[in-house]
Amino acid sequence: MPAYKLFLLPGDGIGPEIMAEAVRIIDWFGENGPASFEYESGLVGGAAYDAYGVAISEEDMLSAMTADAVIFGAVGGPKWDNVPYDARPEAGLLRLRKDMKLFANLRPAICYPALSEASSLKKELVEGLDIMIVRELTGGVYFGEPKEITDLGNGQKRAVDTQVYQTYEIERIARVAFDLARLRAGRVASAEKRNVMKTGVLWSEVVTAVHEAEYKDVQLEHILADNCAMQLVRNPRQFDVIVTDNLFGDILSDVAAMLTGSLGMLPSASLGEAGKDGKRKALYEPVHGSAPDIAGLEKANPIAMIASFTMALRYSFDMGDEADLLDSAIANVLANDLRTADLMQKGKTEVTTSQMGDAILAELDLLSS
Ligand code: IPM
Ligand code: MG
Repeated sequence: MPAYKLFLLPGDGIGPEIMAEAVRIIDWFGENGPASFEYESGLVGGAAYDAYGVAISEEDMLSAMTADAVIFGAVGGPKWDNVPYDARPEAGLLRLRKDMKLFANLRPAICYPALSEASSLKKELVEGLDIMIVRELTGGVYFGEPKEITDLGNGQKRAVDTQVYQTYEIERIARVAFDLARLRAGRVASAEKRNVMKTGVLWSEVVTAVHEAEYKDVQLEHILADNCAMQLVRNPRQFDVIVTDNLFGDILSDVAAMLTGSLGMLPSASLGEAGKDGKRKALYEPVHGSAPDIAGLEKANPIAMIASFTMALRYSFDMGDEADLLDSAIANVLANDLRTADLMQKGKTEVTTSQMGDAILAELDLLSS
């Protein structure tokens, strides 16, 4: 029986609460599934800053680099608003993405049938929604140099961020998107701003070339990123896979998340290139943030965190059946009208973070008995 090593980084705010629920799910699969899971925890974000004065320690970086998968909660909060830029909580997450070379960020936006009324869009628009956003995660304006603020000495300052992409970065993320499309509805929309940005021009040229050479069977559409945002709220079901750069992906995935009812529902997988042994470095995290306003109140929705472990089962451990089982357990709990505060609607039963975990575990027992 394979034994997998997980490295847990709960982080800040609601991170530790939702991680605690994910751990119960991980334990369940360790006891009832075809593999066992060992895990260690580390500190990231504000928690790491408080302990070590950095956003992630070298020791924890090493654990992340050597684990079979990193399970990440959330980072940040007003408490750390004034820490040095390089030690701000987000820097821990960005370093993990960069050093682990996690260039492919998969953000599925699925509207569970029971939640079609919880979306801010009309039910008819989101029912059955199933989009995969593929976000480039290690390039673009997030990491481009120079990135600086210069004092011009005349009472003015000048700030620069650099949006930069090379061919190989676009090629490899395009392949991820096309490969996923082949397993889904076979359509890719590539979003950029070729009408304004040179990176957009190169992006669309390279995506077209990869398509021509390797993926003629997949349908490809180029869409301007602003139009893509508009189409996501106008008629989201037109999309299957959306592939886009780091910054547009950040924004478009938040939009897509809201379509599903709550930001508390969206998981993500960040994957590196497959090595010779077929293994890839991977980090799994909810798309939402650390929600410091509700931290410690047992109000957080643990579903995005738990569903991130579903993605780990699927993409790191080749446990597709177990992933399906966990997805069904989540869907059933929602169908049974249990809701955390973020999803609460009239006629539903409000539950706490750990009660949501209890309900998903009970459903796993039921489904597997
Ligand atoms: C996300 C987040 C991060 C990002 C922040 C926390 C740095 O918004 O994962 O979408 O901008 O990538
Ligand atoms: Mg974001």
